[in-house]
Amino acid sequence: MDNALRVSVFGAGYVGLVTAAGLAAIGHHVLCVDVDEKKIASLTSGEVPFFEPGLPEMIARGVASQHLRFTSSVNLAIDHGQVIIIGVGTPPLRVVLQTFRRCCLWPLQLESRFRVEQLSW
Ligand SMILES: NC(=O)c1ccc[n+]([C@@H]2O[C@H](COP(=O)([O-])OP(=O)(O)OC[C@H]3O[C@@H](n4cnc5c(N)ncnc54)[C@H](O)[C@@H]3O)[C@@H](O)[C@H]2O)c1
Repeated sequence: MDNALRVSVFGAGYVGLVTAAGLAAIGHHVLCVDVDEKKIASLTSGEVPFFEPGLPEMIARGVASQHLRFTSSVNLAIDHGQVIIIGVGTPPLRVVLQTFRRCCLWPLQLESRFRVEQLSW
């Protein structure tokens, strides 16, 4: 494939693994990364963690042709990918709200602290 891309897929779950296998099957060079090291070890040894008809064979072909590889190294995946696809689990609403609050309030706190320091000069 002339226009093959280096693709990194984050998350080897229902979404990420099928995406990774599909992109490898059409000729891209796919590195699939997951933080779950046990899952990566079993995928590397040919075990697929859920039932999807045809997926084990597609993964086996991808691995044999070296179009599909697995890793638990996030850094390796970031370096590899010209395209990065994120298929990790959705965080719970509580975590989303905490992160949002932290991201929004931190610049405001910084700004008000800066103003106080300016005033005290
Ligand atoms: N499964 C579906 O039918 C479906 C449909 C629509 C949307 N989604 C969304 O797609 C996303 C993935 O869903 P899924 O069903 O594949 O989830 P999943 O739980 O099957 O897989 C998620 C994978 O991501 C891995 N992971 C978590 N944090 C990571 C990180 N920082 N780096 C690398 N890997 C990480 C987990 O170990 C897990 O293997 C979710 O956001 C979900 O809401 C899923």
